[in-house]
Amino acid sequence: MEKLAIHGGTPVRTKPWVSKYMGSEELGAEEKARVLNVLEKKRIFRYLPDGLETSEASALEEEYKSFLGTKYALAVNSGTSALICALVAAGVGPGHEVIIPAYTWVATAAAVAIVGAVPVLAEVDSSLTLDPQDFAAKITPRTKAVIAVHMRGISAAMDEILAAARQHNIMVIEDVAQANGGTYQGRLLGSLGHVGCFSLQQSKVIAAGEGGMLVTDSEELWQRAVLYHDGAGYQFRFVERKIPAFPGQNYRLTELQAALSLGQLEKMPAILRVTRANKRKLVERLRRQPKIELSPVFGSERDLGVSLIFYVENEAKARQTAQALTAEGIPAFQVYDNQANDQHIYINWEFLLNKRDPWGGHFPWSLAEGSTVEYSADTCPQTLELLGRAVQVHLNHLVTDEDLQDIEAAVNKVAYHLL
Ligand SMILES: Cc1ncc(COP(=O)(O)O)c(C=O)c1O
Repeated sequence: MEKLAIHGGTPVRTKPWVSKYMGSEELGAEEKARVLNVLEKKRIFRYLPDGLETSEASALEEEYKSFLGTKYALAVNSGTSALICALVAAGVGPGHEVIIPAYTWVATAAAVAIVGAVPVLAEVDSSLTLDPQDFAAKITPRTKAVIAVHMRGISAAMDEILAAARQHNIMVIEDVAQANGGTYQGRLLGSLGHVGCFSLQQSKVIAAGEGGMLVTDSEELWQRAVLYHDGAGYQFRFVERKIPAFPGQNYRLTELQAALSLGQLEKMPAILRVTRANKRKLVERLRRQPKIELSPVFGSERDLGVSLIFYVENEAKARQTAQALTAEGIPAFQVYDNQANDQHIYINWEFLLNKRDPWGGHFPWSLAEGSTVEYSADTCPQTLELLGRAVQVHLNHLVTDEDLQDIEAAVNKVAYHLL
């Protein structure tokens, strides 16, 4: 076997790796025309006195409803605001606990604290999503909701999560920010729980720069989300407001971003056909390498194929593997690198570990009388252990068969020398 590039050998690959976002790479003439059309119409706000429901934002909501088969959709200005509205819609507030995975973007945890509830951390398993057993173990009489995060394009174990939630009368919010277009047993993610939340930020499968979407089958939850996303919006929007008034924010989506997003759902299946097929091929090949581990979920229906993650024996080997792969021309990183302050991992959520609010106090923890929820670096040891020995390579729909062969060759070369 050739010497490792990190030790002065010839790298497997000298061609630059295609590090591109997906949806934004596909922005083209159609999106340009849609955005220009908004400028020409001079209608940049969704509510105007005439043709209220002919806005771009309404059209985008209709696209999500028909794509997902849900009865209601609400366009918002980010994935974070979608989560906040979903929590408020689900009745989550002070005194409640919400179970979230210890591996997700920090916004999932922040959204819970922002609505005045206490985030409770649960482990992820080797699928990188909520460990259903730990979720069940963390349920208390205060648990009002769970946020099932479909992380890195992998769907959470929805059967087990929904069954436990049903048994304990817990609301299920799906965080689909990283898995738009994913499915679980043939059903589209976002349509399985009580509320589904999407992000349209640039790094997502399809994107408008910023933006979000909330979907649900419940009219009541939808009305609550609409009211919270726009404190006076019901005046313009509802035929009949069926819920009592409460104060709202302004999380409205602009017409320009809505127009930019229109039509992208249609493009998404073609993007995901490529990423899914590539990942299946890659996982099939890498399963032959005995020195790395892959979750059984990887490469299955539950995997969109937007990244490659595999496990090695320990943290030190993961660090060396990532460095060696990068030197071979395949940019790779350790998922939990204790030097990196990555905000996807609970140990770096400083506000949570310190139970700190924006005003120097401890809201909402100070309100949750008798709550025994505590956080420390040791709260989710299984998650840290797994992520510490996990190595990741970003994938996208521009990855070719030659690129897949290079990954395989580089992994085998590094495994031969280092693992
Ligand atoms: C899992 C997860 N949840 C929520 C969010 C928040 O989305 P946004 O950045 O659109 O607010 C993100 C994305 O950044 C995410 O990855």
